[in-house]
Order: sequence, then structure tokens, then C-alpha cells
Amino acid sequence: MSKLWGGRFTKQTNHLVEQYTASIGFDKQLAEEDIQGSIAHVTMLGKCGILPQEDVDRIKDGLLLVLGRVKRGEIEFSVSDEDIHMNIEKNLIEEIGPVGGKLHTGRSRNDQVATDMHLYLRKRVVELVGLLHAVQEALIGQAKDNLDTIVPGYTHLQRAQPILFAHHLLAYVSMFQRDIERLMDSYKRINVLPLGAGALAGTTFPIDRHFVAKQLHFDRVYENSLDAVSDRDFIVEFLSDAAIIMMHLSRLSEELVLWSSTEFNFIELDDAFCTGSSIMPQKKNPDVPELVRGKTGRVYGNLMGLLTVLKSLPLAYNKDMQEDKEGMFDTVATLQGALQLFAPMIATMKVNKGRMREAVNKDFSNATDIADFLASKGLPFRQAHEVIGKTVLYCIQNGKYLLDITLDEFKQFSPLFDESIYQVLQPETVVNARGVYGGTATEQVKAAISRAEANLQST
Ligand code: ARG
Repeated sequence: MSKLWGGRFTKQTNHLVEQYTASIGFDKQLAEEDIQGSIAHVTMLGKCGILPQEDVDRIKDGLLLVLGRVKRGEIEFSVSDEDIHMNIEKNLIEEIGPVGGKLHTGRSRNDQVATDMHLYLRKRVVELVGLLHAVQEALIGQAKDNLDTIVPGYTHLQRAQPILFAHHLLAYVSMFQRDIERLMDSYKRINVLPLGAGALAGTTFPIDRHFVAKQLHFDRVYENSLDAVSDRDFIVEFLSDAAIIMMHLSRLSEELVLWSSTEFNFIELDDAFCTGSSIMPQKKNPDVPELVRGKTGRVYGNLMGLLTVLKSLPLAYNKDMQEDKEGMFDTVATLQGALQLFAPMIATMKVNKGRMREAVNKDFSNATDIADFLASKGLPFRQAHEVIGKTVLYCIQNGKYLLDITLDEFKQFSPLFDESIYQVLQPETVVNARGVYGGTATEQVKAAISRAEANLQST
């Protein structure tokens, strides 16, 4: 079959070149966007008097026919037609005859492909925000069920201070909230129309770019035709946002993996979200969070890949830019997969409240509070810190915890201690003492849940 651009050529394309340069294997995912853009374009050609209305109508009908065939999986895309744009056009011409060749009037594949990518990513960003909301909802649900669950909080992965498990989960809700806001902000830069830029310089036809933008619900058109066809910032930005989301998911994944180990035994993931071992019958492996942690690498890689493709690339379109697609598709699929699993996996996770509590009872994570107690009695905090350090050392040497030693033993370290320290040292007291805005006190965590729920409604 002859090429749509074959006029200038005297020889057939080498078949390895065809295969090497073709993008149809992956950009077929843009079929619907491509047709959507073409319908808007040809409608505008009619409205501007560039094509007679009857041609416009035939082309539109033809495009809808092709769309139906695409959706039913009836089209066999061909590598010799290189990419989705040529494949659709070829099919259109087969469907309605040479009039189909008028579709490409006043347009280039360069502004066409950019338009497809904008349309594609615009949809995906909205879907991803929805998936992030679902993960937030699952986390908030668990937080509500764990308003009385006290767990050690860690720094350096060493027990630091007791916190509500709900508070820990809400930290992730905040992280995902920033992710949502980042995606929504990027929408402004995605929702800009490149079509009408032509190959690079604009077009000689009296087209109406704003009319096309309106039909496709774009907020704006690109100001500069070279920028319109050269810009892939919006994809880089999406990949950066995706990398940050995966980074957040990987941190949560790591905690889930740790928490479900026998050593921690803080949570149990539902059987439906775990897998077994082919040799060790007792195993129940947290494969999903492990794999999410692992797949974070490829999303980072996709970001670095595109940044590197674009580095030093001269204006305007270069074939290098065809490399913008696979990493983007892969990132979308990777994110969707992870987020779709995370929401139900978090919602069904069993929290071992007793075990968490036991952990808090057997540690020194209440030590700060007793130092604060001495400081509030007038001892300079630095000295209080020293006194409690010594008290903790004494406990360790005697195989005890702070709540186990007698008042007399306490008094050996400071005369300022009195009976009330036993109340101060209770994990509930320790938690509820942190009533600062954003702190772990139950009242603060309840307020944080309300704010998070309000955010869910508003974004
Ligand atoms: N398949 C190409 C891509 O994805 C479409 C644009 C082709 N433009 C061109 N001048 N060869 O980038």
C-alpha cells in the first residue's frame, strides 16, 4: 500500500525502518482522542468556509464509522501506516473515498499528535484524582476506626513518642491531598490547545483555533505555534506528579510490609490482597505493597527518560518526541493499578490494636513527657533531659520500664518527682497532651478527620 506521504519518494521504505519508526504499537491508545480532535477540526473547516459543508458531513460520518470500528476492535492497525493518525486517516479514506483526504487541510501531524496527548492526559488526570480520593477515603475510614488505637511513633525507625494510629494514617491523607492539588493545578497547563499550529509556523488557511478550543473544551490555545508543537512540559509535569505519588505510595507500602511482619505484627492485610509461597506453606506475602514499592522505580525512570529525551532538543518537532508516549502510558497504567488496589487493601486491612498497645507499654516513648514534667516544675529542660536519660538507663539496666519503677526510685534522680508522674506517663495522657493544632491528641485528630472529609467533598 502506498504511503499517505509517498509523493516525493521513489523507493519503498525499508521494512525494518517502517518497524523502527512506527508508533502504532502504542499510540493506538490515542485512537478516540485522535478522532475527537479530527471531528472538531473538520467542523471548524466547515464553519470557516474552508471545506464545503457536504464534505464536512461526509468526513464526520466517516470518522464516526471509524470510531465505531475502533471501539468494536474491528480495525487492524498497520505498521506501514506508521502511527494512529495515519491509520485513522487511511481507514477514513477507505470508508468514504478521496474526500477523506480533505480532513488534513490546515493541519499537521505535529499539532495533531500534541492535541491528542493533551486530550488524553486531561482525562487521565481527572480519573487519577478520583482514584486518589478513594485511597484517602479508605485511610480516613481506618483512621475513624482507630481513634483509640495508640501505637509507637518512630524516628530513625526507633520508638520515639506514642501517637494515635489514626494520626499516622492521616499523614498519608495529607500527602495524597497535595498530590491531588498538584494534579489539579497541572490541569491548567494540560488544558491548552496546540491545534492550528500546523507543522510549526501556523497555517495559510483562515482557520479558527478558538472555535476548535471551545468545541473540545480547552481553556486556551497555545500562544506560539512553535511552542505548541514542541512543548512536552505538560507530560514532564505529569510524570513528576506521578513520581511523587509513587514515592508516597512506596513509603506507605514499606510501612505496610514492615507492619505485617511477625516482628511488628501491627496489621494484617486481607487474604485477598496477599499471595503465598510455592515452597513455604506458612507464607502470606504482602506482594501488592512490595510491587508498588518496586514499580516506583519505573515511574521515576519514565520521568528521567522524558527529561533526557527533551534535553537540548532543538525546536520544533523532532522524531525523538515520539518517545514521549510509552513512558506516559506506562506511568498512567502503573498509577491506576496501584491506586485501584490500595483503596480496598487499606479498607480491608486488619489493625492489631492490642499488639500496638502492647508495644507502647513496653518502650520508653513516654520519656519526653516526663522530661517535660520536670521542666514544668522549673528545672531547665536540658537538665531535665539529662535526669530522664539517667532514669531510662537505670530502667534498662534493671529490666524495667518507666511505669514499673517506684516513686522512691524516681526520687533518686530528682526530688521534683511526685505521684502524678504515673498519670503523666500513661500513653493516653502522653497522646492527649499534644493538643497543638495538627498534633496527635484525640481532639486534634478528630478535627483533622473532619477537615479531611471536608476536603474530600470540595476537591
Ligand atoms: N507518531 C508521531 C509522534 O508520535 C506523530 C508526529 C509525526 N510527525 C512527523 N513530522 N513525523 O510523534
